[in-house]
Amino acid sequence: LIRKLPNDLRSYTQDYFEANEHSLKQTYPGLSLYRLFQFLEEYGINRHLVMDSFYDQVFYQGEHNPLYEFFLKLDEGIPLEYITGHAFFYKSEFKVTLDVLIPRSETEVLVERAAQWIADKQKARPLARLSVCDVGVGSGAILLSLMRESQAPLDTVGVDICPRALEIAKQNAYLLRFTRHQLSSLELVQADRLNGLKQTFDLIVSNPPYIPMSDGLVDAHSQVLKYEPMKALCIDDDKYNDWFLTFFAQAFRLLKSDGAFMMEGYELRLPSLKSLLHDQGFDNCEILKDLTGRDRFLIATKKRETNGSASH
Ligand SMILES: C[S@@+](CC[C@H](N)C(=O)[O-])C[C@H]1O[C@@H](n2cnc3c(N)ncnc32)[C@H](O)[C@@H]1O
Repeated sequence: LIRKLPNDLRSYTQDYFEANEHSLKQTYPGLSLYRLFQFLEEYGINRHLVMDSFYDQVFYQGEHNPLYEFFLKLDEGIPLEYITGHAFFYKSEFKVTLDVLIPRSETEVLVERAAQWIADKQKARPLARLSVCDVGVGSGAILLSLMRESQAPLDTVGVDICPRALEIAKQNAYLLRFTRHQLSSLELVQADRLNGLKQTFDLIVSNPPYIPMSDGLVDAHSQVLKYEPMKALCIDDDKYNDWFLTFFAQAFRLLKSDGAFMMEGYELRLPSLKSLLHDQGFDNCEILKDLTGRDRFLIATKKRETNGSASH
């Protein structure tokens, strides 16, 4: 049933915001009317809705009106990035669907650190082509940002266990094709961690699933765990250490000597993961903080080879 209201889209949005301000701000911290208009416009543009008369059209509430759907999705509390289909991360805009995690601002610190490592290496060895692998590539947020930052061509591999996530990474790689060095290469591979990969890498980065399932379930009512892919975020408690042990052993094996490993992780588990990394043979294992001052990242290096073998 379509109930026509003597309302234009602008007034409807204002009325909607005023009527629901409290609950909207709980679900979407920091949301203002101005931001809501911006999200609405982005949503409209992505659905090729006519923009000239966007705000002047008579607004009706009915499921056939895609603009009304926007408000229904807000009522449901679906994350805004999933509603609009886009998320901003580092210096780029990424397509996101329910198959990928919405890239988080804290991960930008990892990108910054990795980009600096790449720049330093390129400065020290201007003729070398560096190879970079992102494990759990998701939307491609980390890897495509690193490719964008690099002045020289990079050979990159993005791995994900989820084929639908790889499809989104592929689409983002296409949409951002002009942001990277034209001689850079990108391969997207479906695999469990680094299983079956043969190449070796100068840098392995990862924002793997890292919330222990039991901690995740405590928070099960949050928007995050309601809408975001559980497999992208959580690992069973009883498999936690083994999962990372295998991952670190694979990473150590595929890392070139003098290479680096950098990952995002769960604050409470970072100290034990740091020991695991060390046990696998990594050097300079360090826990780094995010911009809020919380422990968030693990970084390590593989020793430069001496006398033909990497020391363990
Ligand atoms: C936390 S998300 C990170 C996504 C993206 N890199 C980012 O930072 O926004 C973790 C990603 O790892 C993938 N993943 C989960 N288990 C995996 C596994 N065993 N091997 C490879 N990828 C995995 C998920 O599908 C998901 O895309």
